[in-house]
Amino acid sequence: MTIYVDKNLFHLQTRNSSYLFQIMANGELGQLYYGHRIHHKSAYHNLAQREQHDAMASWTLDQPDFQPEMLKQEYASLGKGDFRYPAYQVQAPDGSRISELVYQDYQITQGKQRLPHLPSTFANDPQTAQTLSITLMDAVTHLQVQLNYTIFPKFDVLIRSAAFKNQGIHSLMLKQAASCQLDLPDAHYDWLQFSGAWARECQLQRHHLHCGQQATSSLRGASSHQANPAMILARPDTTENTGEAIGFNLIYSGNFANQIDVDQFQTTRIITGINPEDFTWQLKPQSSFQTPEAVISYTNQGLNHLSQQLGAFYQQHLVNQHFAQQLRPILINNWEATYFDFDETKLLKICRQAQKIGIELFVLDDGWFGQRDDDTTSLGDWFVNQRKFPHGIDHFAQKVHDLGLQFGLWFEPEMISQASRLYQQHPDWVVGAPHRHLTPSRNQFVLDMTRTDVVQYLYEQISAIIEQTHLDYIKWDMNRNLTEIYSTQLPPVQQQEFNHRYILGVYHLYELLTTKFPQVLFESCASGGGRFDLGMMYYAPQAWVSDNTDAITRLKIQYGTSYNYPLAMMGAHISAVPNDQTGRITPLATRAAVAYFGDLGYELDITKLSSPELQTLKKQIQFYKKYRQLFQFGKFYRLLSPFAGDPNLVSWQVVNSQQTVAIVGYYRILNEPNPPYRRLYLQGLDPNRIYQINDLEENFYGDELMHAGLFIPRLLHSTMHVEQTADFNAQLFLLRALS
Ligand code: DGJ
Repeated sequence: MTIYVDKNLFHLQTRNSSYLFQIMANGELGQLYYGHRIHHKSAYHNLAQREQHDAMASWTLDQPDFQPEMLKQEYASLGKGDFRYPAYQVQAPDGSRISELVYQDYQITQGKQRLPHLPSTFANDPQTAQTLSITLMDAVTHLQVQLNYTIFPKFDVLIRSAAFKNQGIHSLMLKQAASCQLDLPDAHYDWLQFSGAWARECQLQRHHLHCGQQATSSLRGASSHQANPAMILARPDTTENTGEAIGFNLIYSGNFANQIDVDQFQTTRIITGINPEDFTWQLKPQSSFQTPEAVISYTNQGLNHLSQQLGAFYQQHLVNQHFAQQLRPILINNWEATYFDFDETKLLKICRQAQKIGIELFVLDDGWFGQRDDDTTSLGDWFVNQRKFPHGIDHFAQKVHDLGLQFGLWFEPEMISQASRLYQQHPDWVVGAPHRHLTPSRNQFVLDMTRTDVVQYLYEQISAIIEQTHLDYIKWDMNRNLTEIYSTQLPPVQQQEFNHRYILGVYHLYELLTTKFPQVLFESCASGGGRFDLGMMYYAPQAWVSDNTDAITRLKIQYGTSYNYPLAMMGAHISAVPNDQTGRITPLATRAAVAYFGDLGYELDITKLSSPELQTLKKQIQFYKKYRQLFQFGKFYRLLSPFAGDPNLVSWQVVNSQQTVAIVGYYRILNEPNPPYRRLYLQGLDPNRIYQINDLEENFYGDELMHAGLFIPRLLHSTMHVEQTADFNAQLFLLRALS
């Protein structure tokens, strides 16, 4: 890993990638290259060259061949002859929006500092990262911008962000501040994005780039179910196992925009960061604004490799290191078992049963506090519901702990119900604009997290409960998006700072709680995957992928999520049938075979199960415990996609780092009469090792399984186990190396 600086040139070289930019003739920065690692030279004239075109703006009369629109820029502004979308925009006191960010100097530091107030990457060992900071200055407004780039020797990952500082004597208005801009010399890419909806998150869409704008974004105050901040550009012939791809993501949980602009010359500009829509930030003299970090990653070895590289990177440089390598507990959550209808006695029955079959953590979900018996009341009243827990929540927690189980609680800290004590005391804490009605969603309203008194109140309330209960785990839910954006605490000129300040308030509360209680495992949740992003991952090492627990629709959700997030982040539960979201009846074995690939949990009333069913659960738990390291931290390979090819067949695989154990999940959604002949080609095995698969008599070389494949017989009714049905079938192949 090296950062080369040669006069006007900056070359960030990782193991397999090169990122190059230079200072252009006008003093601004120009992008040169991002892709497979290339040798370092002192200049790359060829990479900077563009032909002069007629009818194009030039920089000055005596520089007719310096045409901003023809150049690849590093952090572009609008209004000086480059008509593509800009990375930033700043309004001066006179109302003008022109900036010229001219190069001042650079600094290289060993390591990577965390950002204050924002979730960010870090390097606990400074030898594992190198950071380049470039300082730019606009001479008229005295706006200083620092572009930061960090590379990590073990990973082909680049972290970018920008810091704005007003060095002048007048206030400036920041109207846009992207985390990253990348100009690529062609548009020969497919765009992979992960749109969705509640209960249908992360549905991969793959389209060829076309001329003009294409984007995913959120204006919901959260990264959202509808669009995920991650996206990938892959060459059209890139597959899971071959070819070039560039991954992008944001360490951010609020409104974001990922814009792609393919211009008239078929070059591509990517801009990622805070959504400029409904955003401004007042930069008073000497004040600063720091953008969230953007993650960029390159591979020429296909999409599986991209995901693996990102997942391993996050474990080392983003996730709370206390939990990064720690095996995640098998939990049981009472939500789908009881919804709001429970009391201490009912829950303790579940806990006793759970303990007997090997479950490790009991999570008490919504409904334990205030007067909450449905979703119309009590959010904000974080004290125990006396009717359900007459002896107090600490007493109940003690009972759970006495059983040898860990204890977890659900909170929805950011929310308030009108029917609550908190609302009576602090109606002014609710987000809303004066003289406007408040839009409810799930019967609830949002607390103004931009206020320090609100954050402090929540910190105190939640801390008290954690201390009283010796809590081991928190599920932090967030079940609605923001409306009537307004804070009574902000002056009119700063109202468009609200969305960003809101999420900074959320981060601050997370920071306070995770610092005070480092041993508490947080799982983030926003009606499932409504805030499944890297900002959350920094504080909460795991997240609830989706409220949808149906094994069949989960295949797509987990498959889509796996492109950008590691298995250890993905909470996956086995629930009852008919499934509460889809009404589908799937075999217990299939539900398990899907939920194993992540952080396993149960979400059903196990006191209602038959004794053979309980025995099955016990075996599942024993099996998962044996291979938990693999399921949570193994190398994950997508083999057969539900989004391409035959959507009836889905398959994925995990392999341990020594390539001695692997588990393959193979899912056949509907059984087919007289099906085609099928072989499954495995990945990531040692070609020279011999593997035993389940109880098959024949053994196989790794190369054989990867290149010749494993024959998958058709599903005949006569050969099926008792509990199998012909449809919704799952098979697990356990591979163990014999040599
Ligand atoms: C939405 C979550 O995703 C569910 O798991 C559950 O916690 C409910 N909220 C509780 O209200």
